Amino acid sequence: MVAGVCVLLAAGAAQAAKVELSAEHWGNPAGERCVSCHEKSSAGLVRQWHESAHREAGINCLDCHQAEAADVDAMEHEGEIIATIVSPKDCGRCHTKEYEEQAGSVHAEAYAKIETRIPALAHQMTGGAMQVAGCDQCHGSRVKVLGDGTLDPATWPNSGIGRVNPDGSKGSCSSCHGRHAFSKAQAREPSACVRCHSGPDSPDKEVFEASKHGMLYAAQRDQMNLDGDTWIAGQDYTAAPTCTTCHMGAAGKIPATHDVGLRNAWNLNQPVSHQQYLVLFEDGSKLERPANEAPPRRGSELEKTDGSLAKVRAVIAPERRRGVMSLVCLECHGKAFTESFMTQFDNVVELYNSKFGEPAQAIMRALYEHGLLSPLPFDEPLEFTYWELWHDEGARARHGASMMSANHAWWEGMYLVGRNFYSRFLPQARAVAGEQAAELIDPILAASGQHAWLNETAQGNPILGWMPPQPEAPEPEPTAATSADEGEGEGEDEEGGDQ
Ligand code: HEC
Ligand code: HEC
Ligand code: HEC
Ligand code: HEC
Ligand code: HEC
Ligand code: HEC
Ligand code: HEC
Ligand code: HEC
Repeated sequence: MVAGVCVLLAAGAAQAAKVELSAEHWGNPAGERCVSCHEKSSAGLVRQWHESAHREAGINCLDCHQAEAADVDAMEHEGEIIATIVSPKDCGRCHTKEYEEQAGSVHAEAYAKIETRIPALAHQMTGGAMQVAGCDQCHGSRVKVLGDGTLDPATWPNSGIGRVNPDGSKGSCSSCHGRHAFSKAQAREPSACVRCHSGPDSPDKEVFEASKHGMLYAAQRDQMNLDGDTWIAGQDYTAAPTCTTCHMGAAGKIPATHDVGLRNAWNLNQPVSHQQYLVLFEDGSKLERPANEAPPRRGSELEKTDGSLAKVRAVIAPERRRGVMSLVCLECHGKAFTESFMTQFDNVVELYNSKFGEPAQAIMRALYEHGLLSPLPFDEPLEFTYWELWHDEGARARHGASMMSANHAWWEGMYLVGRNFYSRFLPQARAVAGEQAAELIDPILAASGQHAWLNETAQGNPILGWMPPQPEAPEPEPTAATSADEGEGEGEDEEGGDQ
């Protein structure tokens, strides 16, 4: 626990992490030839490099692209051994801190974790071409090298966030840092994130733009100091937070981090959300575990995502992760404001869980267990209805509430969850269950205790229009107070009483 807190709060680490290798380790003279020839064959690319911090520090093409002859993706190119892919491990030669933070993050695991879940969506329902042009562009691929050292077009190019590289490292630093400028100013912009974080299941672009933060960012972008050497919220800028501010950026004593999952208490993209522990292993890897299970003990062994065992170094509780996120807010907001906002957000997640997420999941389980749905996913209408309930509108409601977009929390979120739960999911589930509906579905709804409103009397009815139909109002009878100019006080009292 203590170690985990240190990782999160290491005081003084809010300054920029400087490269530790000395300049003797780069500026390979053989790299000059790459530049002079590529200036002709790919002028734009070389120009980007020319204007980069790397060029300024004397780092050339070969410093990044050089490879060992034994590397699987090494190829002989104009008298040098190079590789096309410059992996996070390669960047990590110089940028140790960023590499280590990125290495165990949810981002780095984004392909490994979903590999077994891809076939149902991208192979069975559609086709393999969609894995390459869809999933892989965001999540990454397992890159295959052909016999001559070139990369298999079925697996490259993409700069997916969890790409499994030929050297075994995961991710791609150019997911967010466009090459060959590799600029930090560019990565601080929301646009660095939103090519992946937009659309139905992770609508963070839409949510951010519709929030007050997005509004102020758009209006005051020139006050954001995006080019600053350091970029500490509350010191280097105050106009608005961006994605980077809240999920990665430095604020006060909170250091910047390349682990985007660190400050999140929930998992918002599951059928039912759980608060989560973050387990840090001694080998540097990490694991998310639901907080409703007992936390693993420090020093104990635990199975990692890849099935191997590792020793637990520290466990960070969800409250601690929430605490770090809140410290970012506190640079620009008060404590009561921040805590009350978080309460409003948590209440939405809990409402979603208990009223819709848990009952719908339990109903689907029951239908599968009784053989009323085939085990094959996406071959029956109810499966699409259920999927969209949690994966699209369910995620949108939770993301909207967590990042201050009332529109996404309600109209494009929970309103659609409610509509689809009552008008599609339940009728379809009842049709699938047939005579067993009373036994399989009704007890689940009753146990949730939140669907009893269906038996209540109406509390107003907005369906025919916003105003409830008014009964014919009788003609008002003239009174002494309204007809004559009498004492002011009396007249006011009467008006007040009428309202
Ligand atoms: C999820 C997007 C993302 C990925 C992936 C990413 N970065 Fe960054 N990087 C950023 C952002 C945003 C900043 C600016 C952070 C700030 O100033 O608060 C940054 C800043 C940096 C800096 C400047 C640090 C400083 O303080 O001056 C370096 C160096 C860096 N990244 C290297 C890497 C390396 C190496 C990788 C791959 C292991 C990588 N980045 C992957 C988003 C990313
Ligand atoms: C005499 C010219 C010349 C020199 C010298 C040269 N290149 Fe190239 N390089 C090319 C051409 C031409 C291509 C193929 C066309 C293309 O991809 O633009 C290429 C392709 C590449 C590729 C892409 C390979 C792929 O998988 O598609 C990389 C990476 C590369 N060069 C890096 C380097 C590096 C690093 C050096 C210095 C060690 C270097 N080049 C030196 C001309 C040259
Ligand atoms: C800071 C490290 C770095 C430097 C310096 C660098 N590259 Fe790259 N280069 C990369 C990365 C990262 C990729 C992306 C490969 C991937 O992950 O798919 C890349 C990809 C490429 C590609 C293939 C992708 C494409 O867009 O066509 C070529 C060609 C290339 N580099 C040439 C060069 C040349 C020429 C230079 C020198 C002017 C150079 N690189 C300097 C990191 C670097
Ligand atoms: C436009 C980019 C994009 C595409 C395309 C995409 N995803 Fe995702 N996916 C994401 C993002 C972003 C998240 C994380 C959502 C979050 O946590 O807010 C995610 C989350 C997931 C998760 C949940 C991971 C977990 O933590 O359990 C799975 C499974 C998944 N995607 C599978 C797929 C598959 C399979 C495909 C292709 C059929 C695909 N995705 C296509 C961006 C994408
Ligand atoms: C040979 C050492 C070396 C390698 C390899 C290297 N870098 Fe750098 N990088 C530096 C140095 C030196 C600087 C400039 C000084 C600094 O910011 O610490 C720098 C600066 C940066 C910056 C900050 C740029 C800015 O806007 O100020 C980013 C981002 C970055 N590198 C990303 C990467 C990525 C991504 C890779 C791999 C594709 C990579 N670097 C590979 C040494 C290296
Ligand atoms: C190339 C695509 C891509 C880019 C660019 C990208 N992400 Fe992600 N991000 C993903 C995917 C895919 C996931 C889901 C990973 C998983 O759950 O396994 C994810 C997950 C996340 C999560 C959820 C972590 C958690 O706790 O579950 C956060 C927060 C996040 N990204 C923030 C960012 C920010 C901030 C940026 C920009 C600085 C960014 N991402 C850039 C693809 C991307
Ligand atoms: C004002 C701060 C703030 C800004 C700006 C912000 N986020 Fe968030 N984000 C949050 C909070 C708070 C949560 C909920 C974290 C939790 O789980 O407790 C969250 C949740 C998320 C999640 C879901 C993670 C999970 O818990 O499953 C993703 C993905 C994400 N944000 C990405 C982004 C992207 C991309 C942007 C920019 C377009 C962005 N965020 C802008 C504060 C912010
Ligand atoms: C860099 C400064 C900054 C950071 C960091 C920041 N905010 Fe804000 N936030 C603002 C500004 C400025 C406003 C607009 C204030 C206004 O005009 O009412 C705002 C507005 C809001 C609003 C809307 C208030 C309203 O009256 O409609 C909420 C809610 C909010 N922020 C929550 C958060 C939370 C939660 C966090 C941390 C996860 C956070 N903010 C982080 C600057 C910031």
